[in-house]
Amino acid sequence: MQRKLSVKHLIGIKGLVPADIELIFETAQTFKEVINRPIKKVPSMRDVTVVNLFFENSTRTRLSFELAEKRLSADVLNFTASSSSVSKGETLIDTVNNILAMKVDMVVMRHPKPGAALFLSQKVNSIIVNAGDGTHEHPTQALLDAFSIREAMGGLKGKKVVIIGDILHSRVALSNIYCLQKMGAEVMVCGPPTLIPKYIDELGVKVETNLFKALSWCDVANVLRIQLERQDIKYFPSLRDYILQYGINAEILNKINKKITIMHPGPINRGVEITSDVADSKQSIILDQVENGVAIRMAVLYLLGGQQNS
Ligand code: CP
Repeated sequence: MQRKLSVKHLIGIKGLVPADIELIFETAQTFKEVINRPIKKVPSMRDVTVVNLFFENSTRTRLSFELAEKRLSADVLNFTASSSSVSKGETLIDTVNNILAMKVDMVVMRHPKPGAALFLSQKVNSIIVNAGDGTHEHPTQALLDAFSIREAMGGLKGKKVVIIGDILHSRVALSNIYCLQKMGAEVMVCGPPTLIPKYIDELGVKVETNLFKALSWCDVANVLRIQLERQDIKYFPSLRDYILQYGINAEILNKINKKITIMHPGPINRGVEITSDVADSKQSIILDQVENGVAIRMAVLYLLGGQQNS
């Protein structure tokens, strides 16, 4: 019997059980082998049509989903809000129902509002995959991050991962916390106190405001961008102050007596949260994360919408 996910949609990591995550990893491992072959396509989603609805900017997630769909032989529609009738006042539900009337089977959506993916899953008759909803969750990013740590470190159980930077505005941080904890890793967050949410204690993570102490504790450092576009007030005195206290550079890493794996979900602001010498170093797995993103998204799409073709 085929193994299935416990969910119909991928709204967030919070709604997954560890067996779901393990199944996604195993399926992604198979697809990773496929996309490294000379013939990179499989027919698993032939006759399935997927729309990528992006109401917010994206490079990695949008291209990675599109490539994943094409590698699975799905038919693909791409929708960008700025060039659509949304700008004429059409509602999200009307927009999606009109697209679904064209016999579309699955919706991948990025939206600036937290909860938008859950709302859509309750209002339309389609499979919904959340590609990032505001400051809430970014489940496929967390899955590809955890998959990349597992690959680099040989597993997740007992591994110590610190997430550094703008935790308050980051959907990547929240999804990573859920995913890593479900898979048995220990999680710490590190950043200025003003960028660490007040509810963080409820999530069972360690909190550290001193970067050197955080780096000395961890096996893996996942470095986040400061989300200036989501900040309506100033959370630290100046960018220069932030760089001096929380910027990851070779100097601070050299002071620590162990090799830490460096990650970043992108986009990177070189010279702000991370210097180029670290981002491009041998201990960085940033481009492995991007490669793994395609395999993880293939696995998610296949497990939610493509298994009938197998
Ligand atoms: N990591 C990530 O979500 O990048 P994009 O915003 O480019 O999709």
